[in-house]
Parts: sequence; structure tokens; C-alpha cells
Amino acid sequence: MATDELRGRTIILTGANTGIGRATAANLAARGATLVLAGRSAEKTVPVIAALKADSGNDAITFSALALDDLAAVRRSAVELLAKHDRIDVLINNAGVAGAHGVTKDGFEIAFGTNHLGPFLYTQLLLPALRKAEQGRIVNVASRAHLSAKGIPWETLRQRTITTTGLNEYAVSKLANVLHANELARREVGKSAVTTYSLHPGVVASDVWRSVPWPFAGLIKLFMLSTEDGAKTSLYCATDPGLATTSGRYYDKTREAKMSRVARDEALAKELFARSEEWTK
Ligand SMILES: NC(=O)c1ccc[n+]([C@@H]2O[C@H](COP(=O)([O-])OP(=O)(O)OC[C@H]3O[C@@H](n4cnc5c(N)ncnc54)[C@H](OP(=O)(O)O)[C@@H]3O)[C@@H](O)[C@H]2O)c1
Repeated sequence: MATDELRGRTIILTGANTGIGRATAANLAARGATLVLAGRSAEKTVPVIAALKADSGNDAITFSALALDDLAAVRRSAVELLAKHDRIDVLINNAGVAGAHGVTKDGFEIAFGTNHLGPFLYTQLLLPALRKAEQGRIVNVASRAHLSAKGIPWETLRQRTITTTGLNEYAVSKLANVLHANELARREVGKSAVTTYSLHPGVVASDVWRSVPWPFAGLIKLFMLSTEDGAKTSLYCATDPGLATTSGRYYDKTREAKMSRVARDEALAKELFARSEEWTK
């Protein structure tokens, strides 16, 4: 049976039909939150919601259609969501792809478009509702992979994935997740109670490695955590009372950790924010 710990708190979680997102949802459902699972597949997510309801006894779990690789669809999804929830306590930007190749509907490199630009627009559109919460939180599930990105290669963002593994592009998209959380934190200070967090969940046995070619995927799989352990850092950032006034920091396995030097570059974060606003107009 669900506890009352998070009763009355509305939490939007993207990409929760599988992997870390599903494990995150299971924990939040058991703690009584009002949960919206936003994902691109009703077919995959509706059965997960039924299972979560049955396991937790929490009936306040719904689906919201969200395709992050299509900016018009992101806009539609946010409008529909806001019609039902005018106050949001937590947004967890969890959905993402790794090792994918191609471009999004709007012509952006697939990892950058899906992992950064779609969530950026979604966050912008939900921000007014997050500001209405007593203490709104935005949690970006980034990755330690951001450490290997040397910067944002502006000139390659509007073309197909170049590298064979797609992992360089993934690293850039995850750097963008950290820069985005940092810049938002600076923008909300003194303006609202909204706080932001970015994190590395650990290396987790999920579906995210489905597009990464062998032997890379095999090597990665040697060191994996369970999805339940992988959900711990997202849960910590989303719900820990001790983090209510901490914003713009990066966490690795439930501890504050050092983000890369590039991720701490305020001018770069500002530029990414401004360009992302322009691209998503
Ligand atoms: N697993 C790891 O070791 C690891 C390490 C570092 C960071 N991360 C990050 O953790 C997050 C969760 O990853 P995971 O390992 O749990 O991956 P996963 O099992 O592959 O789940 C990814 C989720 O994102 C959804 N998604 C993908 N593309 C989407 C789109 N265009 N629109 C909407 N939803 C989309 C997927 O939906 P479908 O099922 O419909 O495709 C799925 O629900 C990601 O941001 C990932 O980068 C993971």
C-alpha cells in the first residue's frame, strides 16, 4: 500500500515505461505521489501504469503522450498537461537515447534533439506551473558521459549523427543537460523557489544501450547497477528535504559530485540557453 509521504505532490516523469524511469516511478507511486508518466508510447506505458497501481494501491497515476524528438508534439503535450495540472511540484527529465543515429523531426542531431532540445522546451513550458509549487524542482538525468564532451559543437547540431557509436553526440547531449540545469538555477534564484539538479544515475542495466554496437555495449554491461539502484539519485534530487534550498549542483550516485570544467562555464550555459530558446520559438 502507498504511504502518505508524497501525497498531494504532482510529479511529472518522462520515459517511465522502462529502465531507470520505471524504477523511479515505482518508488514515487509507493510514496503516494500524484504521478504523470510522460512518454512516446501509450502501448508501452499504460500496462506499466496498471502494474504500478496494482503494486502500490496508488490510483493517481496517469499517462501523457510526449515525443521529445518532435518540438510541435512537445508543445501539444505541455498544453494538454497544463490543462489538467496547473501546479507541478517536480519535473524529472529522465527520457533519453544513447548510441542512436539520425535527426529529429526538426532536423537536429538525434541525441541533442531528444536529450536536450525537447526536454528544454518541455521544461520552459512547464516552468510557470513549477513556480506555483511551494518548492518546485527540475531534475535532469544527465550522465558522467558529459565529462568527455569538450564543448558544444554548434556546427554539427543540425545534421545526422557522425560517429559510429553515437557516444560523442550522447556526451554532448548530456553536457547540455548539466549546462541547462545550471543556467536555470541561476535564472530562478531570487525569482522563485524552483531548484534544479543534474545527475549521473550510475551505469545501469536498462534498455538505453540497445543502439550501442557490440563490443561497446558488452563492455558497458560488465559494470551495471540494477534499475532500482539507478533510480536512487533521481529520487534523492526529486524528494530529499535536505536539498530544498540547494540548486544548480550535480550528483553522482546520491552524492554531490564534481561536474566538468566545461559544464561550469557560465558563458557557454547562457549561449546554449539563448540558442535553445531561439530554436524552440
Ligand atoms: N542506463 C545507464 O547506465 C545510464 C547512465 C547514465 C545516464 N543515463 C540516463 O538515464 C536516463 C534513463 O535512461 P535508461 O537507462 O533508463 O534508458 P531506457 O531504459 O532506454 O529508457 C529510456 C526512456 O526514454 C524514452 N524515450 C526515448 N526517446 C524518446 C523520445 N523521443 N520521446 C519520449 N521518450 C523517449 C524511452 O521510451 P521508449 O521505450 O518508447 O523508447 C524510455 O522510456 C537517460 O536520460 C539516460 O541518458 C542512463
